[in-house]
Order: sequence, then C-alpha cells, then structure tokens
Amino acid sequence: MSSGMFRAATQGSRALRSATATPTIRAMLSSTTGRSARAVLQRTLRPTLTAAFHTTPLRLTSEAGSNPMKETPVITSENITVGGKTYPSDKYTNVTPTILEKTTRQLHLNPKHPVAIIKELIASGFPGFKHYDTFSPVVTTKENFDDLCFSDDHPGRAVTDTYYLNEKIMLRTHTSAHQLRVMTESDKILVTADVYRRDEIDASHYPVFHQMEGAQLFDAKTAVDVIRKDIAQSTSAASGSIHTTDTTLITPENPKQDCHDEAAMLATADHLKHSLNMMVRKLFSHEKDLQVRWIDAQFPFTSPSWEMEILYQGKWLEVLGCGVIRQDILVNAGKPDKIGWAFGLGLERLALVLFGIPDIRLFWSKDDRFLKQFEPGTIQKFKPFSKYPACIKDISFWSNDQFHENNFCEIVRDIAGDIVEDVQLIDEFTHPKTKKRSMCYRINYRSMDRNVTNDEINVLQEKLRDEVVNRMKVELR
Ligand code: PHE
Repeated sequence: MSSGMFRAATQGSRALRSATATPTIRAMLSSTTGRSARAVLQRTLRPTLTAAFHTTPLRLTSEAGSNPMKETPVITSENITVGGKTYPSDKYTNVTPTILEKTTRQLHLNPKHPVAIIKELIASGFPGFKHYDTFSPVVTTKENFDDLCFSDDHPGRAVTDTYYLNEKIMLRTHTSAHQLRVMTESDKILVTADVYRRDEIDASHYPVFHQMEGAQLFDAKTAVDVIRKDIAQSTSAASGSIHTTDTTLITPENPKQDCHDEAAMLATADHLKHSLNMMVRKLFSHEKDLQVRWIDAQFPFTSPSWEMEILYQGKWLEVLGCGVIRQDILVNAGKPDKIGWAFGLGLERLALVLFGIPDIRLFWSKDDRFLKQFEPGTIQKFKPFSKYPACIKDISFWSNDQFHENNFCEIVRDIAGDIVEDVQLIDEFTHPKTKKRSMCYRINYRSMDRNVTNDEINVLQEKLRDEVVNRMKVELR
C-alpha cells in the first residue's frame, strides 16, 4: 500500500492476481497503491459496518492444554474469548468463528509443517538472534499501528482490511506489532507468528498467514566500522545461479531520516540487504537461475524502505518488506543511541515457491496426504494429490455505496470455508437510467481432498444469496 501500507510486502502483490481478475478490478487490486486508494474510499464504511454476531455461544474445536491459544474461542453477542481471555465486543467487532478457529492452529509451532520448516531454516541463518514465536495474535491497536507511527487515518486501520475484536483490540496484521516490545529486550531479534488480514480469495491469498520479523540494532557511533567488518567476515553460501538486481536509490520519496548520519544509515542499509541476500541464497541454493530484485517501498515504521521480490512462474512475487527503523521507535524502546534495520517476510510465500505448493489453502489442510510429506530441516517438492473437479457458481446483484469486496469474501468464507478456491468479479456495469451498479461474482468451489457434489454446493450458494442480502443489503438480480 502506498504511504506506507504494509500489506503487499509479505503476502504478495496484487499483480499476482492479475491473470484472473477482470480489467476494472485488476486496476484497483494490482498494486499496493491500488489497495490503499480503495481502502481510503472504504473508510467511510466504518460506522455502518456491523459485526456478524452470534446470539448463542459458538463452540469451536478444542485441543486445550497448557497453551492458552489452544483453548476454544467463544463468540457471544457481548464478548469474545480467545487465548483464554475475554474481550467485550462493540460496533467495530468483525472477527468471525472461522477466523478465530485459525488462532488455535499455530502451524509455525508444528515442526513438520512447511511453515515451521522454513521458519527454522531462516532462523538458522541468524545465529545469536533471540527468537520469539509464541506471542498471542490478539494485540492492541497501539501495538499494531500507533507504536509504529501509523497515522490516525491510515487505510490499514479500516475495518474492511483488519479483524477487530473491538475498537482497541485486534488480530495483529503483521509481526511488526511486537517490534517495540522485543527491541527493549534485545538488539538482535526474530519474531514468528500468524497474522490476519481481511482479503479477497484466491490461490495465493488467505486471511491468515505467517510472518517472520527480524531486526538488528547497532551503536550509531560505531556502526560503520562494525558493519563493514561483519559484512567482510560473513561468508556467503552462495550458489552461482542466483541473480540479484538492485537499482534502488535514496530519494526524497524514500528518504534518509534527518536524524541519521549518512554513513551510518548507508552501512545499516547495506547490512540489511546483505543479510537478506544471504538468507535467500541459503534457502534457494538448489533452485536454478533464481532471479531476485530489490524495489523501493514505503512503510510508516522504516525509512528508507524496500521490498524484495522473487521471479516465480514468470511473475514477481513479493516476499518481504524492510528498511531502516524509524528513530522514534528506537527512542520509545529506550535505545536512542542505536541505529537499526528491520524486515518482515511472508513464510507461505517462500514455502509456495520452495516446496512447489500450488494453493495457499493446503497449508491449513488436516489431510495426512499433505502433512506426511514433510520433514524438519529438509525442503522437498510437494507431490500433488489428485485435483478434484471445481463447481462454479455466479451471483449477481445491484450493489450499494457500502459494498466492499472484502466484506463479500468474508461472507463467502464464513459459509463455505476452505471449499472456496477463488472469487472473481466477472462483470460490472452501471445502469444508464437508474445509475444502479450491477456486479456479478464467480465463485469457484473446489475441495482439496474430496469431490464436491452439485447439490451440496447449491445449498451453500443459496445460503450465500440469503446472507449477502441480509448482511450487505444488496438486491439480487
Ligand atoms: N510489517 C511489514 C509488512 O507486513 C513488513 C516490514 C517489516 C517492513 C519490518 C519493514 C520492516 O508488510
């Protein structure tokens, strides 16, 4: 997102969707800027969006033990219990049972899961870093936004993009939410966690994914020498077939912070890029002719900022965002004399490429044919099990000013869960006389582990038609 949105860096570029989206929507979705602009438009939605309340307590699967995140989340009309704590709901509440169930899964803590395998491989390239991976996904808006210098009207705060338990409590949208806290404790840190973003639906987007945050701080006075020595010493596990392009420049659009000494900032930036180049070299050492590029980016909490992209199946895939940490954050962490870098990377993004996993929903599979394929410490290509046939259904309606695609997708997901593979806007027009906007969405239903019947999908589609009218006040055509 422009003006420092954090979404694109780690779950990936809208450009990735462009093969399937219609031209109109593609223009809006294909860049981080597009999403930002769209989110700005939708911010007006906030007061009118009401939560999907459940009047009776809703029980979800539980494996409660000593880990509070494994306790069963409960939603009532008055409050939400998750991770063993209860929060009052209000007009901002928009978490759903489907999403809360995900907080209990903690894929990154299952050593045989691809997300955890990648987590460990990356962490092994950062020796001496303190690694936190059990923070609760429930954070305050202060931690997720304010502490990281997000402006009050930043689009990332919109209820259309973020899951709120209530006005002040939310599911973290990025691991950066823990930066301030961990920086007070250490100068070399990693944080791995599940993060949550309301989103559209397709093979590379899912409302929950995993990030790893990394940060390293140096004494500002000695940074240049320390860093130069460190870079010279660190040997690269480079495979000759990785090509890295970096044409980024420090410009007024992506500036040095006034408070920083130029040499110290440049050294910090070099150390950051060097560390991340080494990281991908190590991860992708078996991949032939890997293309990696650095591009400029913007985040409220770093300046200058960059993203790293990897060329995958002919498209540039954004895998991480990073930059030189805003000095305000270091001051607030009680470390005004330090300078530092931070990055946040999307683990599924890397896992899709490394393991050759074709659909992001597979990470959530409980099917042994998926889970039994992986071993800690090794990357082996995923062997697809048969692809089951899709069942395609369209839904058309007259839209209204409050309509937001993320709200629509949330309803689809609530009703059909992981059986939805893809939701696309396939037609849109405005009636010349009435000026009403017509929209037609195509929903691609396909299970990853069984055949779906037309009858069962019809039931879901009927339910969807009812719910869309109830919750979004649109008029079916
Ligand atoms: N939090 C950012 C995101 O989720 C990534 C990031 C982390 C960028 C740290 C800069 C520094 O996209």
